[in-house]
Amino acid sequence: MAHDPSARPSTPPTTQASTSPFDRQQRMSGIKKVIAVSSGKGGVGKSTVAANLALALGQKHRVGLLDADIYGPSVPRLFGALHQKPTINSEQKITPIERLGLKLMSIGFLVEEETAVVWRGPMLFKAMDQFLRDVDWGPLDFLIIDLPPGTGDVQLTLAQKVALSGAVAVTTPQNLALADVKKAIDMWKRVQVPLLGVVENMAYFVNPTTQERIQMFPKGELESYLAREKLRKLAEIPLNPAVSLASEMGIPIMGSHPTSFEARAFLKMAEDLAELM
Ligand SMILES: Nc1ncnc2c1ncn2[C@@H]1O[C@H](COP(=O)(O)OP(=O)(O)O)[C@@H](O)[C@H]1O
Ligand SMILES: [Mg+2]
Repeated sequence: MAHDPSARPSTPPTTQASTSPFDRQQRMSGIKKVIAVSSGKGGVGKSTVAANLALALGQKHRVGLLDADIYGPSVPRLFGALHQKPTINSEQKITPIERLGLKLMSIGFLVEEETAVVWRGPMLFKAMDQFLRDVDWGPLDFLIIDLPPGTGDVQLTLAQKVALSGAVAVTTPQNLALADVKKAIDMWKRVQVPLLGVVENMAYFVNPTTQERIQMFPKGELESYLAREKLRKLAEIPLNPAVSLASEMGIPIMGSHPTSFEARAFLKMAEDLAELM
């Protein structure tokens, strides 16, 4: 599926063309594809997937990772860059932090971890705006955006401001998580952003002694939902302590164990996505 964001209808079905926020959508100059990573719930591994996908794509492409989870930024910690401060260049643009070949930007680089939590609408919008306009990403093949969970202001602002090439939704297998990811998928439909596919994270656990697969979270109706909606499953990532340990150490598993099963799953996902877009 080759998707050209500029080909998206400029008139959404329910609003007048002249006042539509989607008319203000801009392509971010120098960035070929922008992919949003979303989820219904927090804690399902959205940041883990965003970081490892960015690293996997980074093997063959120029990639940036924007942490738009204003309320719970993870990128500084995931990349062992908690105390890094971005600099401002001669053109008054913010220079992203570079790690493992990726360009990184996060509210966590700019304010203390506790500060952004008390922000309200206008400040949130301003921060998002800055991230989209005032960061010197340089030429990129892919910008991955790690969104906050759910379908709130940040997601909608983004859909209005940036011509997203597509979105990825992350969920865990059980119906409790699926119920919420459906809402996220529905949101992308409403704002006419192509849903590239779904990542099933913590899909199962492999007992290291017996190699037996254990269903830590019960299998819900994810498969039948995907089939019914004709949605692609982009990857199935097992629950593996090595994944979270790598993140704790500040080098996501794609960087620390590039030949692991999980890293190979992220690589395959990156290849499929690059081909799909
Ligand atoms: N496949 C996995 N196996 C083991 N731990 C995981 C896996 N995916 C995520 N985690 C861990 O679960 C926690 C939540 O993941 P995170 O990516 O921060 O979720 P979110 O961004 O959706 O809130 C983190 O500690 C992370 O390391
Ligand atoms: Mg997160």
